[in-house]
Amino acid sequence: MRQKFVAGNWKMHGSKASVEALMAGLIKQADQAGAAKIAVCPPSLYIDQVVTALRNAGCENIAVGAQNMTTEPDSGAFTGEVSARMLKDVGCEFVILGHSERRAMFAETNEVVAEKVKTALENDLTPILCIGETLAEREAGKLEAVISEQVEAVLSVVGIDAFAKIVIAYEPVWAIGTGKTASADQAQEVHAFIRGQLAKSNPQVAEKVVIQYGGSMKPVNAQELMAQPDIDGGLIGGASLKAEDFIAICQAAGA
Ligand code: 13P
Repeated sequence: MRQKFVAGNWKMHGSKASVEALMAGLIKQADQAGAAKIAVCPPSLYIDQVVTALRNAGCENIAVGAQNMTTEPDSGAFTGEVSARMLKDVGCEFVILGHSERRAMFAETNEVVAEKVKTALENDLTPILCIGETLAEREAGKLEAVISEQVEAVLSVVGIDAFAKIVIAYEPVWAIGTGKTASADQAQEVHAFIRGQLAKSNPQVAEKVVIQYGGSMKPVNAQELMAQPDIDGGLIGGASLKAEDFIAICQAAGA
């Protein structure tokens, strides 16, 4: 039985003051969050503040992740970049990789994403590997081809066994920040396809992989989505910026 996993992707939102308020809200309600694994992924600048707030409060059931990192693992002349080692150093357990916003706006290819996944694994960070199709791709009947390519690119670099330590987030691009959620059936169909894709290499590993859904997941639709057999949690954008909404989604994961 896979443990449900709900992670908040705060994207480029927040200030020292708003992070303090959001963390106070999350910490206050953390013991009502249920049995799901929980993580928050703040902008890099605020990771230390979040880790410190959790530590000071003795809150152990919220893990921390980053939203991106470079392929270079340690340190060096890479102005503006953040490495896997630095993320570990400040207390991250997870790192979101290959988010569609990075693929679309920062030209991250499948190959770059695969390289980042490898670097994360080598540095003991759990990648949350984001995949998903655009509306144009879905309408052109290319959904399965796009998803297969995104999975295959990583599989060919790290191998199937590594997937036991990778979280996948299926995020249809057309559902992100649009209020248009994939229906539970639509999402389940793609999640099953992803698991089936991995099962071709190793059914035991495929059975273990946690596959989150992301794209306008809210308290109102979270329970139905996460009740699907292959939907193992959520990667939450907008709704993760409100403590009550995020905790309500975590509760729905256990329902
Ligand atoms: P929204 O929940 O705001 O649609 O964002 C989803 C997402 O991109 C999470 O990574």
